[in-house]
Amino acid sequence: MFLIYNFDCIQFFSFMQEKILITGAGGQLGSVLTLKLQEKFGFDRIIATDLYPKIGHRGHFEILDATDYQKLESIVIKHSITQIYHLAAILSASGEKTPVKTWDLNMKTLINVLEVSRIQGVHKVFFPSSIAVFGDNASKDNTSQDQFLLPSTIYGISKATGENWVNYYYIKYGLDVRSLRYPGVIGHQSLPGGGTTDYAVDIFHKAIHNKPFECFLSASAQLPMIYMEDAIRATIELMEAPKQNITIRSSYNIAGMSFNPNQLFLMIRKTYPKFTITYKPDFRQQIADTWPNSIDDSNARRDWGWNPKCDLESMTSSMIKNLKLKQ
Ligand code: SER
Repeated sequence: MFLIYNFDCIQFFSFMQEKILITGAGGQLGSVLTLKLQEKFGFDRIIATDLYPKIGHRGHFEILDATDYQKLESIVIKHSITQIYHLAAILSASGEKTPVKTWDLNMKTLINVLEVSRIQGVHKVFFPSSIAVFGDNASKDNTSQDQFLLPSTIYGISKATGENWVNYYYIKYGLDVRSLRYPGVIGHQSLPGGGTTDYAVDIFHKAIHNKPFECFLSASAQLPMIYMEDAIRATIELMEAPKQNITIRSSYNIAGMSFNPNQLFLMIRKTYPKFTITYKPDFRQQIADTWPNSIDDSNARRDWGWNPKCDLESMTSSMIKNLKLKQ
């Protein structure tokens, strides 16, 4: 009894000590994750950072270009940071326009985060990877964890390389870095920027405004996707899982749902029967062609109990309901 009580106290005490820094806190995922972590730990424990301040942001905020090691380190010291969620990155479609800049930014920021964690004793780091690590050679359906990675975009190359870096820091320095290979993330709270899966958010904004939608992917381009609530829950569940359960130190496959633009369009049409779509595939279709159709996330299910809650139908009705509330 005493032991259990004592253990709970220690856990509670360490929970209360956490100071969490988020890079890319103004982004699609970062803005929602910041709110969730503030809710969970309290405003004082969360330090949101990004290149620009976010209008209406509540709580601590620091301007940070995460390629600047000195600035990053000074913020980590100033706030006695214990955990970092490193979300700043250039995504797949934008990255193809400036490959060298994308490599520089995605790698420099990650290595800065890993180094500052090693040097300043940050004990836990989250690194987002992506389905973009898979290339043409990987099997398309139910793509498994351990496929040979041959990414087609510079973004995918930076994420596959990042997976090796985080694994290296775990093995060499014992840094507790955890990572997920996110599918396309769909949410009503924020807009994505520069991704190949962005159409699946944009389409809802057109539908609720009774506008036609022009899709930059073809009707049959099936991709793995996840609803924002599931993506945030997966992130926090992974970060809170007991250390001994984490068997994958590169990055976990996770799945939410899989659909193509036509299936999403037909689902939205159930609410908006007059909604129309045209297809004008561009270079993003070539990127999508190299990505999986669906993902096998059995390792995440086995190791830390991952279980997505949202499918195409429930995601669609939640998106429409929440976007309409904002109108
Ligand atoms: N949603 C991302 C993109 O399209 C994939 O990680 O770039």
